[in-house]
Amino acid sequence: MRKPNIAVLGATGVVGREILKILVEDNVPFENIKFLASAKSAGKKITFKDKEYTIIEAKPEVFEGIDIVLASAGGSTSLALAPEAVKRGCVYIDNSSAFRMEKDVPLVIAGVNDDDLKNHHGIIANPNCSTSQLMLVLKPLHDYAKIKRMIVSTYQAVSGAGLAAINELKENTIADNEGKSFENVKFKKPIAYNVIPQIDVFCENGYTKEEMKVTNETRKILHLDASTPISCTAVRVPVFHGHSEAVTIEFEKEITPEKAREILEKAWGVEVMDDVENYIYPTPKDAAGKNPVYVGRIRKNIAFENAIDLWCVADNIRIGAALNTVRIAESVIKMGLF
Ligand SMILES: NC(=O)c1ccc[n+]([C@@H]2O[C@H](COP(=O)([O-])OP(=O)(O)OC[C@H]3O[C@@H](n4cnc5c(N)ncnc54)[C@H](OP(=O)(O)O)[C@@H]3O)[C@@H](O)[C@H]2O)c1
Repeated sequence: MRKPNIAVLGATGVVGREILKILVEDNVPFENIKFLASAKSAGKKITFKDKEYTIIEAKPEVFEGIDIVLASAGGSTSLALAPEAVKRGCVYIDNSSAFRMEKDVPLVIAGVNDDDLKNHHGIIANPNCSTSQLMLVLKPLHDYAKIKRMIVSTYQAVSGAGLAAINELKENTIADNEGKSFENVKFKKPIAYNVIPQIDVFCENGYTKEEMKVTNETRKILHLDASTPISCTAVRVPVFHGHSEAVTIEFEKEITPEKAREILEKAWGVEVMDDVENYIYPTPKDAAGKNPVYVGRIRKNIAFENAIDLWCVADNIRIGAALNTVRIAESVIKMGLF
């Protein structure tokens, strides 16, 4: 099988930089590789596998000869450039929300619904970070007991909002510590020593777009009925890396916490940390920089029938974005889909 020519679009961003690390860790095969960003970064140097590359401004013609694009440059960039890349024969794996709910665009978590990749027409979408980490946990439980409905509350790290948001938490914290005033730009409220119950803009139904992404993307990835009730509250917390989620899942049939634990202990990409007597449960610090989705606090929910509660934590930049992007690319290569 021929090795692909790869372009990393958004190579200077939080997700893009992590993609570079994972391409090295996984030793992903490629013939040639290009690093693309905005005009602001064009001409700057980037080192990859001990070789220096020049960052190129992303314009339609740079996709000539490229087989696979790993894109994390925002929705408007993808809306403009994905069709241009596809026109030139690329498979465009996109981290933005621009195409996720399009009918002919597979929305994929590697290891969960790789078969959907076979139906791609050039663009493949990577789910939202809070959806992504949940899928590896939900899929094996759903296979056993069928999800009936779900309520999720997220506690999301600032790195989910990019480099500028990471810097804002740092600067806001320093300003607060020194008693200085600080003007927040990325967030609507102070992020230092605070929590913010808003991620993305509000929709007409009172949910935010981030919350509706969890609802809609979960249904699409797990092939659930379009009316399966899923409700999410997404909250930004002053944590740099690692999203946490408190999840209540009601199933069609009974599933005991012991059975759920047994299933999750065998599940690919999931690590169970659940021994409350010894204070063992995952926190964002356990997950930062790591690949698994960590699960703990698995217990019988006392408000609903056939329901369990659990707590799930993962590195939002890894499984929530860069790792899954690279894993999709690896599946595309293995399945000969480029
Ligand atoms: N962070 C997460 O946890 C996460 C998770 C899932 C999905 N995502 C999605 O991934 C994307 C990137 O997120 P991020 O956190 O990495 O953001 P970021 O740190 O702000 O980086 C943005 C990247 O996009 C590039 N870019 C911006 N405008 C461009 C343009 N017009 N043409 C070409 N490149 C352009 C930037 O290049 P310059 O440096 O040259 O400006 C930079 O490389 C977003 O769509 C985001 O929603 C992020």
